[in-house]
Order: sequence, then structure tokens, then C-alpha cells
Amino acid sequence: MSKFVIVGQNSLEGSISVDGSKNSSLPILAATLLAQGCSTIYGIPSLADIQNMCNILKCLGAEVSTAKGGASGLGLTISCKKLNPDVSQCENTGLIRASFLVAGPLLARCKKVKISMPGGCPIGLRPVDLHLKGFHALGAKISTGHGFIEAKCKNLTGAVIYLDFPSVGATENLMMAASLATGQTIIENAAIEPEIVDLANFINAMGGQITGAGTDLIKISGVKELDGQGYTVIPDRIEAGTYAVAAAMTNSKIQINNVIPGHLKPMIAKMRETGIEITEGDSQITVNAADKIKAADIKTLPYPGFPTDMQAPFSSLMTVASGTSIIVETIFENRFLHISELAKMGANIKAEGRTVVIEGVKSLTGAKVRAYDLRGGAALVLAALASEGETEISGIEHIDRGYLKLDEKLSTIGVNIIRV
Ligand code: EPZ
Repeated sequence: MSKFVIVGQNSLEGSISVDGSKNSSLPILAATLLAQGCSTIYGIPSLADIQNMCNILKCLGAEVSTAKGGASGLGLTISCKKLNPDVSQCENTGLIRASFLVAGPLLARCKKVKISMPGGCPIGLRPVDLHLKGFHALGAKISTGHGFIEAKCKNLTGAVIYLDFPSVGATENLMMAASLATGQTIIENAAIEPEIVDLANFINAMGGQITGAGTDLIKISGVKELDGQGYTVIPDRIEAGTYAVAAAMTNSKIQINNVIPGHLKPMIAKMRETGIEITEGDSQITVNAADKIKAADIKTLPYPGFPTDMQAPFSSLMTVASGTSIIVETIFENRFLHISELAKMGANIKAEGRTVVIEGVKSLTGAKVRAYDLRGGAALVLAALASEGETEISGIEHIDRGYLKLDEKLSTIGVNIIRV
């Protein structure tokens, strides 16, 4: 398996641009199943998870091809005239959690779906009870057995659904299912992440009637059918935040292009608290790191709280901040797999339950470390940028799932990194 080898302590300069959002692309690709006709989605990052999702769509009977033109990133044309709702025969559904997002569209389009229980993943069990509770409220009969979930209905009928937790995936799956139900559905305590708004905008572009996306009360009036559309996904806010931390770790000033600053508010506020200077433009930000980063505490929360996907990258920054920081991870139960690896690099960091205590140190030292999950892997790359000497990171297939050509992009702003 390939590795990253990074020689730390280079200062960075210039500008770097962000790709389309992975966590917008995946639900929007699933939503193309709702339409009879053909959709073309632009700005998609060509990542392993996207490839897996395309394989699942093809396995369900969709035609998927690359499209010409459009913004940067991949353009994909998907047409779903006839579909086979038995996802269980698609061998790679277990590979990505997001594969469960095809359940809502298939239930709405084909009135049934058979899909394997999505595998857990390193960061936690990842149950889908809230998705199933919503499908049941819409009139589906749910059965489970042999590792599969089956949902069937004569017709989906609008309902009021209260989400015990503002789950991103459950909000997305239920918005998609409700868009073809009879009557109105109300989702209360809905997730309000920017990716939810992006999905709602795409469904409305196809002829859907969704209001309130971006608030915790979303109303969906079901329509008879939806038509395929062209659409460009929003930029990836977590990729942008990751590059901002890279600048801060190396005392550098860089410009990050293709961002929506409003989506970065929680991260920008926290970084400013540590003394980092961030200037916001229309579609870019400039990050000018202070000489000394001050420690700050974070608690991950649903949007607009500090995003859980930035917990690990931000923890790396705190390992070289001055002072003590307390980090609480409230969203996932096992998102600390990077901590033992950061300790190998000289970080003074320990976890107790869902809390991490970090005492900033003067500097880290390069070491041989391993990535166990996507954002934890990114955190190790960031720590390597600030380390004396060489760091070797194995398990980089996890990093490639969420960051397109991270080594090539970081090299363009002065990072000494190679993929071996
Ligand atoms: C999405 O995952 C993102 N993935 C995650 O990004 C992100 O960390 C997460 O939202 C939170 O923002 C995609 O969009 C593909 P959730 P999702 O449902 O939808 C519990 C990354 O690094 N829960 O909001 O799975 C669940 O166990 C990935 O890019 C239930 O209990 O997140 C977790 O503890 C990682 N029952 C919490 O809610 C359910 O039915 C948040 O999960 C559903 C969720």
C-alpha cells in the first residue's frame, strides 16, 4: 500500500483551490435516482467514495458517463429510466456509509428496496434507526434479517417526522423519499448543514417542492415525478478548513480559492480565537498565521456548531499551540484514532471518553505513523507539516477517500511531500 513521506517545517505560500464537496456529491448522486430522465452533475471530486457510489448506481440499472464542460472537477451524466431496487446484489455497498443514501430514492421510485445494513466504520457504529423510523412514518413496512434491510410500501404518504438527533444522512434520505410521496412531509429537528441545502436545491431544480432546508424544520410537498437536471455541487468546506490549518501549522500565509466563506463560519471563528488572521473574500479566504498559536477549546456539534470532521485536523493544530486545549467530540463515539499517532510525533495528548486534553509543545518530530480514518489521516499530514524531520504516513487510502490528490495540491504551495 502506498504511503506519504513528508519533510516538515517548510513555510507555505501561494494559493490552493478546493474541490466540490464529497458530502454534497454523494447524496446528490443518489438523488438522481429519483428522476425518470437524465441528470448531469458538475464539480464532483473524483474520489474513491464517488467511484463506489457510481458503481452502485450502475449496479441498480442507471447509466453513468462522464460529461463534457461544466465547472472544474468531474461532470457525470446519470440516467435512471429503469431501476432494480435490490441493492443487496451490489457487492460494494458495504464499502461506503453513504451507499445507504440510495434507500430513500429507491423506496420513492420503486416502492421497495433491499439493502445491506451499512457497515460500521472506524469512527463508530453508524446506526440507521432514524432513517428507518422516517421510512416507517412515510408508510413503508421495514424488515431486517441476514444483514439486510427491506422496505416496501404501496405508496409513500406524507407525515410529520421528528428526528431524535439532527442526523445529516437521515435528513437527506427522508427529504429524497418524501419528494415523491403523496401529500406533505415535515421533518422536525432536521440537520441544517450546507450539504442539506445543496441537496434540496438539486431536488427543487428537478421539480421538487422543498422549503426550509437550512433550518431545523423542512417541509416537502410530494410531486408525481421529477425530471433530470444539470447541477453544480458546492465547494468542500472541510477541505477548505484543512488547508487553513496547514497554513497555521507552518506559520504561513496562503489564499484558499473556491470556497463559500459563510459555510466556514464555525471554523473561521475558532481559528481567529487562536490568533490566526483570516480575511474573507467573495469566494476565497486568506489565512495569515500568527507567530504563536493560542490554545482554544472545542466541542463538536451539529451545524452551525464546530464540525466533527474538523475535530482531528484542529487537534493537530492544538498540539503546537501555547497552552492547554480541551476537545470534546459529541457526534461520533470513536473519532480519536489519530491520538496515539500524534503522540508518536511528540504531541502531549490524551483522551478520556469523548474528551481529549492537549498540552501544546514547542514542536513535533517526524515519525512513522498510520492513518485509520479519513479525517484522522488528514490530521497526521497536518502534524507532519509542523514536525522536525521526516514523517511516513501509511494507510493513505483513507485520506484519498476524502481529499483529491492531496500530495500534489500541497506540493503546489511548498509542502515537501511525496507518495511512495
Ligand atoms: C455525514 O455522516 C457525513 N458523511 C460525515 O462526514 C459527517 O461527519 C456527519 O454527517 C456529521 O456531520 C456524509 O455526508 C457522506 P449523521 P452521517 O447521520 O450522515 C448517529 C467525513 O469525514 N445516528 O449526522 O452518517 C450517528 O451514529 C464523514 O466526510 C444515529 O444514531 O452522520 C452519529 O453518532 C465522516 N442513527 C451521529 O448520529 C441514525 O439513524 C451523526 O450521524 C443516524 C445517525
